[in-house]
Amino acid sequence: MNIKAIILAAGKGTRMKSQTTPKVLHQILGKTLLGYVIDNVKNITDKQFVIVGHHADEVEKFVKDNYENAKTVLQSPQLGTGHAVSMVCPNLENYNGLVLILCGDTPLIKEETLNKFVEFHNSNNSDLTVMSTIFDNPTNYGRIIRDTDNTLKCIVEEKDATQEQKAVKEVNAGIYCLDWGKVKDAFSQLKTNNAQGEYYLTDIISWGKAQNLNVNAYILDDSDEIYGINSRSNLATASKIMNRRHIENLMAEGVTVVDPESTWISEDTQIGQDTIIYPFTYIEGKNIIGKSCKIGPCAHLRGGVEVCDNVKVGNFVEVKKSKISSNTNVGHLSYIGDSELGERVNIGAGTITANYDPISKTKSKTILEDDVKIGSNSVLVAPVTVEHGANVGAGSVITKTIPQWALALTRSPLKVLENWVARKNKN
Ligand code: UD1
Ligand code: CA
Repeated sequence: MNIKAIILAAGKGTRMKSQTTPKVLHQILGKTLLGYVIDNVKNITDKQFVIVGHHADEVEKFVKDNYENAKTVLQSPQLGTGHAVSMVCPNLENYNGLVLILCGDTPLIKEETLNKFVEFHNSNNSDLTVMSTIFDNPTNYGRIIRDTDNTLKCIVEEKDATQEQKAVKEVNAGIYCLDWGKVKDAFSQLKTNNAQGEYYLTDIISWGKAQNLNVNAYILDDSDEIYGINSRSNLATASKIMNRRHIENLMAEGVTVVDPESTWISEDTQIGQDTIIYPFTYIEGKNIIGKSCKIGPCAHLRGGVEVCDNVKVGNFVEVKKSKISSNTNVGHLSYIGDSELGERVNIGAGTITANYDPISKTKSKTILEDDVKIGSNSVLVAPVTVEHGANVGAGSVITKTIPQWALALTRSPLKVLENWVARKNKN
């Protein structure tokens, strides 16, 4: 679609009280807030402008490294949400199509909702549409103020609102769809006569009304989707909402999640039918899990993990950036990192892939071919390969290729001193 997106991500996020991380780079299950927003809008727009300012370098790097159709635009100093959008004007000088504006701190919005929002805008011949919703507790959001005939009048921020306006429960989601050609002039005409002395994006509503434009609100039923993150407490609430939403979808598609309350599964994790996820499992980042697997209890998948069908990843097993082929078991207390495990592999309890060399600071791969059996409490020092069908005896440290069907052991010989304890006890 020939729509442009503008994503506001320049603010400091003062209320997050973070010294090291800009608000939009805080994470939910291994993915940044900004990442969620761009992912949800990237399929319905052909270009995304991301406004950066606070910690601009980091946010810019994140966008560049991950999104080819996104372009960052610097806003410095940050004089408000309206000022942020005005930074894009030189980029869109000759553009007359639709622009979707979103906030980088609102990660729960769904692509399908944005699609409906744009459809609503088009079918109403709207020039400017704002998304709103009803919150029981509207504190801190901008309030949607309507005229006596129920048409939109303006948006009033919490800090500028009268007692009467504060009682309004319809709030501004911070998401807008506009005909750029008709609304762009607003951005050079916004004023800062408000409690925060900022250029408010919200003022485009009253500006549009004054210009006799067709201005509408799209009221969203599921208010969770526009939940904005301003504090650590909001971050925790949003994480819970997102997690529950995804787990409900997985269960609807035939995945058993024994206890959704204690289980965390990132949105970017696909899981096949009849797989069972046991309690206290934490799955972050992008992962694919096959059918009829058993994961957990207390398993940790850290992203980049591909698990094929009928695999067991048991309790206190951590897996990162690895492929585990079908019918393989990693039952207990193991770390599998940067590894490729073949089919029908068995990993004994307490097996570690030592993937990191702290001197060269590099990570290396462990390859275990089909039918390999690793005895308990073994260390596989990467880079290392154990070839087809080979066994490793319990307690071994493996530092070189083990040829197929061999047994490898690095155990020191067992000494048995007959009657040693009895003799000691007599003395
Ligand atoms: C804003 C809206 C409010 C709405 C709420 C929805 C305004 C004035 N208020 O309030 O009506 O209910 O979002 O979540 O728009 N940003 C910039 N540059 C700036 C200032 C902010 O890029 O100069 C970015 C921030 O990084 C953030 C977004 O804009 O991603 C929103 O800013 P924030 O300060 O969180 O606004 P709210 O107070 O939540
Ligand atoms: Ca906000």
